[in-house]
Order: sequence, then C-alpha cells, then structure tokens
Amino acid sequence: MTDRVQACIDENQDRFVEELKQFLRFPSISALQQHDGDTRACAEWIKDHLGGLGFEAGLIEIGGKPIVRAVRRGKSAKRVVIYGHYDVQPEDPLDEWKTPPFEPTVRDGILYGRGATDDKGQVFAHVKAVESLLRTEGGLPCEVIFLLEGEEESGGDALARYVKQAKDELKPDAVVVSDSTMYDANTPALTYGLRGIVALEFIVRGPAADLHSGAYGGALANPVMVAAQILAACVGRDGKILVPHFYDDVVPLQDWERESFRKLNFNDAALAKELNVPRLHGEPGYSTLERLWARPTFEINGLHGGYGGQRSKTIIPASATAKITCRLVSNQDPVRIRDLVVEHLRSVCPDTVRLEINEFGASPPVLFDVNNPTIRAAQEALRQGFGRETVFIRCGGSIPVVSTFVEQLGCPVVLMGFGLDSDGPHSPNEHFSLDSFRRGTKAAAHLLQTI
Ligand code: BES
Ligand code: ZN
Repeated sequence: MTDRVQACIDENQDRFVEELKQFLRFPSISALQQHDGDTRACAEWIKDHLGGLGFEAGLIEIGGKPIVRAVRRGKSAKRVVIYGHYDVQPEDPLDEWKTPPFEPTVRDGILYGRGATDDKGQVFAHVKAVESLLRTEGGLPCEVIFLLEGEEESGGDALARYVKQAKDELKPDAVVVSDSTMYDANTPALTYGLRGIVALEFIVRGPAADLHSGAYGGALANPVMVAAQILAACVGRDGKILVPHFYDDVVPLQDWERESFRKLNFNDAALAKELNVPRLHGEPGYSTLERLWARPTFEINGLHGGYGGQRSKTIIPASATAKITCRLVSNQDPVRIRDLVVEHLRSVCPDTVRLEINEFGASPPVLFDVNNPTIRAAQEALRQGFGRETVFIRCGGSIPVVSTFVEQLGCPVVLMGFGLDSDGPHSPNEHFSLDSFRRGTKAAAHLLQTI
C-alpha cells in the first residue's frame, strides 16, 4: 500500500470514527419487528454514504430486509464483492451496559456500542478503505460491489436468494468478508472454516393452566421436569451429544490441522478466567480449539417455564419451552441433523405431555482450501495493515450466506476478520478496538490493490 493511502487513513481517523458512530446509532435489530423502521433507516444511511463516495448505490427489495448494493468500477477488470451486515443483535440485558448500546462511546481507545464489532465496525473499515483509495489514487484499483444484508443476525435468506438470482451478473473474482475474528489482539487471521447452524425450539405442554402443586402434585407429569429430562437425554454429562447418528458425517480432524491448532498454544486457564467459570468443559478427547472450531455442539439458548418471581410459588407449570441451536461442522447436513434432533426429541418425550417443535433457520458449515493467490494476497494485506504474520484459523460462529457464496459464485472467499471473540458480540458492552479499526482499514485498502 502506498504511504499516501496509509497517511490518508491516519489523518482522517477521527472523522472516520465519528462517522462510524453515526452508523452505530441506528438500532437496526433485525430480529425485532418494532425496529423494522430503524433497520431500514440504517440501510438508507449506509447506502447514501456509499452513494456519497461515488458508488451507484441502491436498496434491493426481494422480501425480508433490504439489501444494500453499491457498485463502483475500477482501473482493472477485476471485481471484488465486499460482504457485511448492517443488522445487529438485540441489546438486552440493557441494565448491564455501562453506556447505552445505541449511544456509541469511546473509552481508552475502544469504541463501545451494539454492532461495534459485529458487524458495522468491520464493514466500515472497508468503506473507509475504499474512500481512502479514492482520495489518494483518484479511483479504485478494481471494481468493488458492496453487498450488505440486514438479516444475518435473524436467520433471513434474502441475500442468499439474491445471490442465486444474480450470480451471472455478479461473477466476482473474489468475495471478501469481515465478520469474523483475529486469533488475538495482535495476531491477524484468515478463517478457512465456519460452523453451520440449526435452530429450533420445543414446547412441552401439560395442563391447560398452572395448577396447585399440592392439589395435583403426584398425579401428572410436570412439563418443566419433562423438558429437563428431554434435554438431559440430548447431551451426556461428559459433553458428548447423545442424538443417534449426530456425528456420522463429521469430517475427522486431519493430523496437520491438530498440529496447526496445537501450535497456536491456546491458553485454557486464561479463557476460563476471562469467562469467569471455574473450568472449561466439553467433548472429551478434543482440545478447546478443536471443540470450538471443528466439533459440533448442541446448546440450550434459553429454557423457560413456570414461576421465576420472588420467593416461592407452589405450582405445576402449564408448559416449558427450550430454545436450541446446534453448531455443525463439515460435512454435516443441516436438514439431516435437524431431522435427527427432532426424531430424538420425539422419541425421548413421554406420552404424558404434548410436544410441539418449531424449526427456525438452518445453514451448512463451510471449510475451504486456502491454497490460492487471493488468500496469499489477503495474507500480505494483513501483514501490511497489522505489521504481523497471519495465522490460519477456523471460527466457531456461523455466517449463513457464506455457503451460498461458495456454492453459487465459485470464486475464492476471503474471511478476514478484524474482531475478537472477547469484543462481546451479542453480549452487553460490545466493543471494537479503534486500533483494529484503523489497521483493518489499511489491510482492506491493501487487499484491493493487490487482489
Ligand atoms: N459475526 C458473527 C459470526 C461469527 C462469530 C464468526 C464468531 C466468527 C466468530 C455473525 O454475525 C453471527 O453472529 N452469526 C450468527 C448466525 C445465526 C444467527 C444464524 C451466529 O453465529 O450465531
Ligand atoms: Zn453476530
């Protein structure tokens, strides 16, 4: 990257951060209907911002939240799609935020606010990279198409539908995604695997209304107890998933991968401390990084039922609800796994209650080959931006549309994350280091020049 581009990024940093704060002020929570207006306003804002940089920018409406599409030609015939999402997770629990989630605040070089790292801050690094190239070089080195979706966090499929429909006109040479993480604050990383996901809920229904537990206790099944028993039949105490055939299609870790994870010297004790748990836990026979990146999980996201108020209330609850997500790894098929889980839930549920199961989104895992010139260009770009060598990692999270990019576009996908798991995405006090924002902007600019 030329010194001029670097200098431009450094000189304009304060303004870039102020603009990022504007982006962060929109409560673009895609999961909550009451925020549909805010989500659309956010899409309009970033569309107009890109329009202001000379992009031909518009909103694509194909059902679901609008997709921001912004195109600007470049000097070479190469075309790069930059993907990100402008929607964010709900902010709850609100009283755990030190400063309000949608009033972005900088403390000690760190920007706090919902979406700071996931994903507005990372998207904005690319936007400001493009702006810096335009200011210093007078044009872009290659054609850039921003595709920013508004329903990544809520399981929508508008962008996947759009990509399928527009693949012949899109035909990029590469897709660049910054919605993942670095290995640690000083180690940039390229991600070559993401987990897939299956989401569902089950509701155990018992009596028509909560009952007096003295009058009726002993006569009928307690729905909350049944839910607990069903869940206990899904995962053993050792962390092994008990759903029959769940692991059948899991690609075993290769020796080189186990070795490469081991060389990262992951510190279990430090993670336990950071997360404030007495010790870590998970499937036996696998290291923590192996469990996070290359093994599937069965998680309870929420378990509700009965009385949760003060002191005691003697009831048999009418129902209990469990929200579940399974993270999947290659080559697990989300539909097959969903069917296996549903079948298992039904088979372990006693006939003393009624079981209702509702299915939500499902998306496949991805695992790609990193042996291509685009990945090498990204490695060099990260070296330029962060001044450190890049490591190759997998990530435990999911970015559902990435599998559609891989399937439909047939070009290399670069997962170049600037965030950290410890930035608190989806948690209170989400944040993004301004250092990473600046370095990420430099890396993004460099990548466009060399891709
Ligand atoms: N940025 C995350 C995905 C991620 C998390 C990548 C951690 C790497 C490390 C993304 O915005 C996200 O949260 N995705 C959801 C998808 C789900 C709602 C279908 C996820 O993983 O829970
Ligand atoms: Zn997220």
